[in-house]
Order: sequence, then C-alpha cells, then structure tokens
Amino acid sequence: MSGALAGTGICVFDAYGTLFDFNSAVARHRAAVGPKADALSDLWRAKQIQYTWLRNGMGAYAKFWQVTGEALDHCLAAHGIEDPGVRDKLLSAYLALDPFPEVPAMLDTLKRAGMRLAILSNGNPEMLDPMVAASKLADRFEAVLSVDAAKVFKPDPRAYHLVEARCGVKPNKVCFLSSNCWDAHGAAHFGFPTVWVNRAGAPDDNLPGTLSHQIRDLSHLPALLGVS
Ligand code: LAC
Repeated sequence: MSGALAGTGICVFDAYGTLFDFNSAVARHRAAVGPKADALSDLWRAKQIQYTWLRNGMGAYAKFWQVTGEALDHCLAAHGIEDPGVRDKLLSAYLALDPFPEVPAMLDTLKRAGMRLAILSNGNPEMLDPMVAASKLADRFEAVLSVDAAKVFKPDPRAYHLVEARCGVKPNKVCFLSSNCWDAHGAAHFGFPTVWVNRAGAPDDNLPGTLSHQIRDLSHLPALLGVS
C-alpha cells in the first residue's frame, strides 16, 4: 500500500459532524421549528460542545445525552420556542442522524481493503448505538467506543486513550478522523496521526497538536491510506 498514511493499523472516526450530520435533526423538522431552524441548529451544536468543555473543566461529567438536552433547552429558550413537541422531535431525531453521503462507500472501500475501523465519540452508548444501527453501518466497525467509559469528554487525553485500551493499537498507528478542528488538535496532541475533515473549508485553529492532513470530506480518505 502506498499513501501518506499507509502504515495505519486502525482508522478511528469521530461521530457527530464527521460520520453523521447533526444538522439533519433540525433539517428533518424544519417546518415545526420555523424560520429560526438554521440558527437553532448552529447554536445547539455550539452550546453542546461548549458544555462538554466546561464540564471537563469543572470535573462535572454527565452523559452526552443529558448535555445535548440541556444545550437544546438553552437554545429553545434563546429563540423563544416554547412548544415541548419540538424538543421531543429534535431529540428523537438525534438518535437517527443521517450519515454524510460519502460515508457508506468510503467505509466499504476501507473494509474491503482489510482496514480496521472504529468510532470514538463523546456520545454515550445509549445514543450512539441506536444511531449507528439506524444507519445500517454497524457491521463496518469493530468497536463503537464512548468516552462514557472514561467519564470525561474529548479533548481530555483519557478519552483518546480508550482506543489503545480497547483496540490494542499504539497511538502512532491510529489514524484519527474528525471534522471538529478542536477534536482533531486534541487527538494530534495526544499522539494520533490525525486527519481534519474540514467540511466547512474553515481556517485552522491555533491549538496544540500538529494535524497530519486536511481533507474536504471522507471520500478522500482511501487515497491517503493507499487503498482503492
Ligand atoms: C463526537 C463529537 C465531538 O462525536 O462530535 O465525539
């Protein structure tokens, strides 16, 4: 195999925003949410992630499902949306988010080439497992790892350590993929060769950890790994 990351022992993917489109929850219920749908979706994600960082800082871990609901409650209040039916619809949709369009074929290509595949997510198993099952992609992954096992969110190194602990692969043989720039830097700082899936074409963040590569979407991953 040739390719910039040809020595990879396992590919480990972030879930939300990387394999699965968190905007698909609000998109599915755009009519019920109303004209503030896009603003709500953006703020929901921003608050959800901000709450994980703050909880890490406070030493106050709670399951990502709780954090996701608390972030949504803030956003609904901020946008003056009071219909409790909207909250229920959006949270239910979070259990069956759409994978990004290129994901199934990319996973099949890597799997055919014998690549080991796993997920490492802030999501707790009770929310990750139904989503992966609904996408019909569960059999592509040897492990769906949740930071819930470490009771701390990414980018804490204890979260990234779960990969070696569960899959037995040294960090320098792990190819980590995230569309979340802060997560990519956290993973790179931990010691994973890391590819930032820069779906939005955003500028890099000025954070510790050197990113190995940047790709626009996951269709470019097989070539980096020397797989076709
Ligand atoms: C995850 C979030 C960070 O899946 O996207 O861990």
